Amino acid sequence: MKELKNYLDTNRQRFLDELLDLLRIPSVSADPKYKDDVRRMAEATAEHLRSVGADQVEVCTTDGHPIVYGEKMIDPKYPTVLVYGHYDVQPADPLELWESPPFEPVVKKTKLHPQGAIYARGACDDKGQFFMHVKAFEAMVQCNALPCNVKFMIEGEEEVGSKNLEKYCRDNKQKLACDVVLISDTSIVDNETPSLTVGLRGLCYMEVEVTGPNKDLHSGVYGGTVANPVNVLCQMIASLHDKKRKVTVKGFYDTVQKLSAKERKRLNEAPFDSKTYMKDLGVADLMGEAGYTPIERTGIRPTLDVNGIWGGYIGEGAKTVLPSKAFAKISMRLVPDQDPKKIEKLFQKHFEGLAPKSVKVKVTAHHGGYPVVVPTNSDEYKAADKAMETAFGKKPLPQRGGGSIPIVAMFDQVLEASSVLMGFGLDSDDIHSPNEHYGLFNYYKGIETIPYFYKYYSELKRNKK
Ligand code: BES
Ligand code: MN
Ligand code: MN
Repeated sequence: MKELKNYLDTNRQRFLDELLDLLRIPSVSADPKYKDDVRRMAEATAEHLRSVGADQVEVCTTDGHPIVYGEKMIDPKYPTVLVYGHYDVQPADPLELWESPPFEPVVKKTKLHPQGAIYARGACDDKGQFFMHVKAFEAMVQCNALPCNVKFMIEGEEEVGSKNLEKYCRDNKQKLACDVVLISDTSIVDNETPSLTVGLRGLCYMEVEVTGPNKDLHSGVYGGTVANPVNVLCQMIASLHDKKRKVTVKGFYDTVQKLSAKERKRLNEAPFDSKTYMKDLGVADLMGEAGYTPIERTGIRPTLDVNGIWGGYIGEGAKTVLPSKAFAKISMRLVPDQDPKKIEKLFQKHFEGLAPKSVKVKVTAHHGGYPVVVPTNSDEYKAADKAMETAFGKKPLPQRGGGSIPIVAMFDQVLEASSVLMGFGLDSDDIHSPNEHYGLFNYYKGIETIPYFYKYYSELKRNKK
């Protein structure tokens, strides 16, 4: 591995420059305005795969954004690792809150990142992280140190619910056949505390519309006798949590897995300082389900949040109006064994039941995703654990991620392969927010760790064949 280390050291600057170039492409999947840029990003990703020695590289057209594929099959007797990542990014707005333009990456030093961090949309989520795999692969090929087969599948629709990936996986089951899926799209606890993600939350995303009178009314002439849908919606939403901040949707917790005291203790071993946490976020107190620590509230407990709410007059000055309609987008983060399809029905029934006769309610569902738990006794977990320990000099803590990667559950079902969630970001990297960034330490540490995973995983698997 010494030769590999030398290769990484010699090529540090180029590895960074190449990533910066990719970050200049605004591959925002949600906004049709960027459709050509998304394709350009797919082509650039494919070109990188080709240039580092992948074969069968394709930009596969789908009904949405393209999927990039490439592989290196060195021997069918060896195990096969499928690398999954996403080259699409979240919209950058609100633009005015960025300290430097989102698609003009800059490297800046900060307290948390004394070696510097790359500021750009997608720096961490997920361009910086999937590209570590391309560079680690390059290094292994160049140093004759690739111990197994590799396939790459980098998609362009993760941030909009991976709508076309399932069909692609079903249609290409043979091509994608693998022993394990390797993903870097999650976080570590901090740069001194490596961790492996052993669970992801699922998602159920709903939209509600409350209609009162058949037109906007004068709030003086009618106010006080006709239901105001904005008032009513606020009341309905407020009732979705009880005093202990539990979600009141009937049946919501029925299938939630309980963790043993031992498992909970293990999760809470991660360092967490609520004072700094609150200070960083500018809040004077935390709020969440009673009886659980912040780590548990984001990792093993389901939640409900309003993502947006609108209705009535929101222009300049004041307009006295009793609006006809009010809307909200409401999402629920789910944990094992909650089923997003069932939760969708429970929510719909519960929410409709909350409405007074004076309004009509319409509830519709957006995309969702199943929660995930990763066993810690598998060969792939052991290999990832040892890889992290070798690179960081410390054993990684198993941690639950609060976010969702809906296709991970699908990989289990369709490709019959389990996933390793070996991400290198920090929760404080501001993914999806203004000023998203990714530490140079994290980028290079990832590139250093990945070949160890290949090595240990191949050794474990080969000893069994
Ligand atoms: N990489 C994130 C998910 C993530 C972030 C998991 C941090 C664990 C820790 C992913 O790109 C993402 O943002 N997922 C969405 C899913 C949605 C668009 C279906 C999410 O979690 O909101
Ligand atoms: Mn991501
Ligand atoms: Mn994301």
